[in-house]
Formats: sequence, C-alpha cells, structure tokens
Amino acid sequence: MQDSKILSLEQVSKYFYTSSGFFSHGKHFAALDNVSLGVAAGSSIGIVGESGSGKTTIARLMCSIYKADKGRVLYDGKEISALSKREKQEYVKNVQMVFQDPDNTLNPKLTIKSALSDGIKKYITKDKDEIQEKLNQLMEMVGLPYEYLERYSHEFSGGQRQRISIARALSINPKVIIADEPVSSLDVSVQAQILNLMKALQKNGITLILISHSLAVVSNLCENIAVMQKGKLEEYGNTLEVLSNPKSEYTKNLLASSSYTVIKNN
Ligand SMILES: Nc1ncnc2c1ncn2[C@@H]1O[C@H](COP(=O)(O)OP(=O)(O)O)[C@@H](O)[C@H]1O
Ligand SMILES: [Mg+2]
Repeated sequence: MQDSKILSLEQVSKYFYTSSGFFSHGKHFAALDNVSLGVAAGSSIGIVGESGSGKTTIARLMCSIYKADKGRVLYDGKEISALSKREKQEYVKNVQMVFQDPDNTLNPKLTIKSALSDGIKKYITKDKDEIQEKLNQLMEMVGLPYEYLERYSHEFSGGQRQRISIARALSINPKVIIADEPVSSLDVSVQAQILNLMKALQKNGITLILISHSLAVVSNLCENIAVMQKGKLEEYGNTLEVLSNPKSEYTKNLLASSSYTVIKNN
C-alpha cells in the first residue's frame, strides 16, 4: 500500500501485562499483534471486531495516547515520535478523537460556548466576531440551535452531548476524526442522526476512522474495512469487496450473525 496515507500503522504490536496478584509477575499479552493498516486523506476506514479485539488500542495509538511496542505509527508518512515540534502541533490539531461516552469528555462547569471556544482561540482565531461565527457554524453543522451555546452539558440528552463532542472535535478544523463507537451509548432513535452527521463530514473532505461493531454502519459509511480478532488483523480491504466475498471464517460468522445486507454507497 504505497498510496499516501494520512494515518497508518506499520507492523504494530502493543503489549500489556495482566497481573493476578501482588507477587505475580503477570503475563505479557499482545493487544495488537503485527497490525498494518491505514487510511488515505479524504477516505474512510471502519474497524470492526468483537470486544477486546484491539479496536480501541488502534485508536489510542493513532492519537498518541499509547506508544507502539513494535512497528511504526505514521502521520502523513512520518513516524509520529519523530515529528518536529511544529509537525507535532499540526498532527495534534488535525487528528481528533470522539469517544464512546460523551458524558466523560465534557466539563460540567463550562457552558457549551466555553467548551467549544477553547480550541478555536488556541488554534484558529482570537477575534471575537470570528469566534462567534465559527461557533454558529459548528452548531449548524451538528444540528443544534445557537441558543444552546449558553447552556451546560447536563442540560442536554446523550445524543445532544455526542453532537457537542463532535462539534468540539470539529472546532479546530481537523483533517481526521477517529470515532470510537460513537453511537453505542445512545438510543437507537438518535444513532441514525449521528451517523448521518458522520456522512456529512465525509462530504466535507474529513477523513473518518470509525470503530463500530455494526457491519451495516461500516458498510454504509466506510470505503475500507479492517476486521480485528484477538489483536490480529483478520481481513482488510474495500468494504464491499470484503463483505461480499469474505475470506476468513471469522468475517463469515460476523456477517451471518448481523442483520447486514450489502448497501451500495450513494
Ligand atoms: N491500558 C490497558 N492495560 C491493560 N490491558 C489493556 C489496556 N488497554 C487495553 N487492554 C487490553 O487489550 C485488549 C484489547 O483491548 P481494546 O483495544 O480496548 O479492545 P476493543 O476496543 O476491541 O474492545 C483487551 O484484552 C484489553 O483488556
Ligand atoms: Mg473499545
């Protein structure tokens, strides 16, 4: 895969230790074992697999919460740990994560306006009118009324809070959004709204890395798919090709147990 990837893992392994007691030395196990995958700018990849298969570990490596024990994590073709100070700032701004549970990511003491303004002031503009204009744009993008800017996060429903988390991730004009099961804590009725929002982001050229356990969601939103099992990359490629002709037993089982039907994009 030599076409230019904005984010990629090259033969990455990540190990953790399980310790069963104070005197035990614990066991070393691979949460990720020699995984190579990536996403081209403006494209999208869905990462699926059962719980514990390493999906969140991939997301955390991609945004430098974890460091790889083996292999390399690359941003725009350069190893993240080798980026210059300026390149690192650009990477931190351009790669934003949206977490599964929006409740833990919003400060209850801040109005939505201050929660969203922080990053804008730091990275985009300090001009008051420009900040206000950006805030209005963001609210429009995630489908919330401007008046809500003055409210606090506890005044919102789970679905609205997830929209605010997405607005905050978008506030500094990132190139890449990594969304780790962004709808799994939400009611089914609001899941579709958030997923439509993700689709709209892609139309605006944002690169999407979406972790989900729904093949239907991934087939609808993501050009490529990575199927994880027990830390290993089980299958990887164009979503329609992988799902219409799965090679591994694991993917076949995943397909059989889901309500997935092939949905052609657009
Ligand atoms: N910080 C950590 N310390 C110890 N073990 C971890 C840590 N993070 C993840 N793991 C383990 O690594 C494996 C993969 O976890 P994770 O990437 O969260 O899976 P998924 O997101 O697919 O459910 C699991 O066995 C999990 O318990
Ligand atoms: Mg996870």
